[in-house]
Amino acid sequence: MRPIGLIASDSSENEARVILNQTEEKRVKVEDLVLVDNRNEGKILAVLRRGRGTNENLKPGGYNPGVAYARVGGSPSTVKETYDFTLSVIGEIKEAIQQNRRILAPGSPVYLFEDIENPMLYLAGTKHKHSIGYYVSHPSWPVPVDESFIPYHIGVFASTGGGKSFLARFQIIPLFLNAGFDVLVLDWKGRDYAPYYPEENVISISEIALDPETVVSYLCEKMGNFGYTGLQARGTLTQALEDFIYSEGWRGLDVKEFRRVLYKSMISSLNPKGLTSGRPFEDQQRFERSYKRLNDSDIQTILGTLTSEDILRLVRTRRLIILDMKKTGKDEKLSAFLTFARYLMDLMQMDVDLNLALVIDEGRSTAPLTQRAYRRRLPI
Ligand SMILES: Nc1ncnc2c1ncn2[C@@H]1O[C@H](COP(=O)(O)OP(=O)(O)O)[C@@H](O)[C@H]1O
Ligand SMILES: [Mg+2]
Repeated sequence: MRPIGLIASDSSENEARVILNQTEEKRVKVEDLVLVDNRNEGKILAVLRRGRGTNENLKPGGYNPGVAYARVGGSPSTVKETYDFTLSVIGEIKEAIQQNRRILAPGSPVYLFEDIENPMLYLAGTKHKHSIGYYVSHPSWPVPVDESFIPYHIGVFASTGGGKSFLARFQIIPLFLNAGFDVLVLDWKGRDYAPYYPEENVISISEIALDPETVVSYLCEKMGNFGYTGLQARGTLTQALEDFIYSEGWRGLDVKEFRRVLYKSMISSLNPKGLTSGRPFEDQQRFERSYKRLNDSDIQTILGTLTSEDILRLVRTRRLIILDMKKTGKDEKLSAFLTFARYLMDLMQMDVDLNLALVIDEGRSTAPLTQRAYRRRLPI
């Protein structure tokens, strides 16, 4: 450890300024980690934050010979020049780091951690074996992770291009796997994960079977809500569609067969007597108009056969599954997510220990929608 200066006056238990020894101002940098040997007892780990340079001869807003000299372009004396950093206390070094409760005594010496002395060891104590990334500028100082916090929510925030997906791919996912969790990644754009993992770890969203509730609302939406704007009016048609979808008889069909079966079932429940006027006939016509809006790729999306159980089983055997969501609309993505989330929630309500990490990339663009969807569709 290299001595770099002394604690200045006006210190407190969690913040102080350190006056740097001469020439240290050229070496010491913001974010450097230091140890304060507190004369009031304790070895204190701290981080340098805001640096400051002071020269009595160059005080602005007043007159003195130094300022006058500077005004005419002369180089001022450095005799009265000092440098200091504000130091922010991390904690007292004991077996693990603890809150520091004693005032840092002015005059206490401050030492810099050099590259070979890894201060992360103090942070971790002996019990944390997992780490993530490394401390800024020090690749040999991996940052320890307290394993007991992994089951809590983890958020990664940065502007676009800030490295969120990279962090998840290279650090967070390996961390989960090393800590014994199985991992399901929802790759919202299908761009950040799916191309980089072996095929056996990737499944496509169109392979997934959506739950009936989701399928009904998805089809309604794709059929323009049967041309209605109000919910009540479209009751009969929605009811007929629900009867059909909840019957589950269409699972496993191909697109053409699905079309045929859907059409037949809807017509026979909307207009069973084959009337050519009146309400049943109007409902039939309304359905036929909406049905034309439904294209094959819309249908393909709901014909996947993988159930939530299948997905979970896959995650269990392969440990890591990327769900590739490219080329699908927001509604389908959200539907697949909600179907699986609902399944997981049911399991959790039965007190099943899932031991599963869900990585949701691009939460940013879907979060408001998801929240609304949650409130509307999920019983939480
Ligand atoms: N730690 C890193 N080291 C080097 N390059 C990185 C790092 N993190 C991200 N990048 C680069 O920045 C680009 C954008 O990162 P990305 O993780 O896709 O950002 P975000 O998900 O926040 O939009 C990546 O394609 C990669 O080239
Ligand atoms: Mg990203």
